[in-house]
Amino acid sequence: RTPALLDSFGREATDLRISLTDFCNLRCSYCMPASGLTFLRGEALLSTAEIIRMVRIATELLGVTQVRLTGGEPLTRHDLPEIVAGISALPAAPDVSLTTNAIGLESRAAQLRAAGLDRINVSLDSVVSATFERITRRPLLHRVLEGIEAAREAGLAPIKVNAVLLPGVNDHELPDLLDWCLERDLQLRVIEQMPLDADHGWERARMITAADVHALLAPHYRLSPAPVAREGAPAELFDVADPVTGAHRGRMGIIASVTRPFCADCRRTRLTAEGRVRTCLFSHEETDLRGALRAGASDAQIADMWRAAQWGKAAGHGMDSPDFVQPQRPMSAIGG
Ligand code: GTP
Ligand code: 5AD
Ligand code: SF4
Repeated sequence: RTPALLDSFGREATDLRISLTDFCNLRCSYCMPASGLTFLRGEALLSTAEIIRMVRIATELLGVTQVRLTGGEPLTRHDLPEIVAGISALPAAPDVSLTTNAIGLESRAAQLRAAGLDRINVSLDSVVSATFERITRRPLLHRVLEGIEAAREAGLAPIKVNAVLLPGVNDHELPDLLDWCLERDLQLRVIEQMPLDADHGWERARMITAADVHALLAPHYRLSPAPVAREGAPAELFDVADPVTGAHRGRMGIIASVTRPFCADCRRTRLTAEGRVRTCLFSHEETDLRGALRAGASDAQIADMWRAAQWGKAAGHGMDSPDFVQPQRPMSAIGG
């Protein structure tokens, strides 16, 4: 049996999230400052071969079975198809998924599917142009919609849509956004905003909670908990029905990281775009594997460093503690 990637609380990480870049072509207010950041370039980023090697070590020596490619925006990496193909060709090939804003997918969805990509989750907070632009600070909604359409045509399924609700900005659009997703057979997941914004302006009292989501949807839909195990997955799923006729319309999820944390069942480990292990979104420590790799470390040595880092994973994000300190890096720099 493959030695597992364990932490001191008895959790086993089987789900690896790799940030391919910290660059993004949008500037969502809950994730990046308007001015952008100083992005990593060239040698600072893990190369195609280094990423594939890290995944080989994770799957062969550490028991990882699922890999999610994130960012920043992973589609801005020109070698994304080679990365996906290289991971898919590994002897212990994991399930490979992508979290993306879908910009650029219109020309690459079919190629990515052919390379072995299994699934995608698209970040989309509004299907109203003006609202989209207000949140992302870019007038690019049409590109996202084209990308989603291309993904569907390429046979990437299921497609999930991640939406962060901001009070007074897009929360009132929720019933329409859900309707839009249901009509297209997309699974909407509403996400509680976490304190990972670049401006450190997050306030718990101003966050739209899972309870608010239920209240916003109650006049329009009947939600009942779907009989599926959560098993460390962040989303709680609901069957959505018409409140009058009772007709089943589809499914949606709520990711209540703040008010209903799933840390006790967490199965995650992360690699930042510069090749550091980060055991939690809210860690204050990282372990540099890129340096070891470039200094000639063996697969077994890299695996040992990764195991040691994972062992130190905290019990949870600790947002409810008075001592909670928001991580220095925003979501885009950690990897979503
Ligand atoms: P699947 O269940 O495989 O579809 O993936 P996922 O939902 O884990 O991945 P996705 O990238 O779509 O993430 C959805 C949301 O979960 C993100 O927008 C975050 O808000 C939240 N999330 C992602 N990673 C973490 C994490 O490590 N901890 C917490 N608390 N929330 C996370
Ligand atoms: N809180 C919660 N989710 C966030 N995302 C980005 N920033 C935050 C935040 N502060 C989401 C994006 C994307 C996913 C990778 O993370 O909407 O879907
Ligand atoms: Fe896991 Fe940390 Fe996310 Fe909690 S906050 S689910 S411990 S990665």
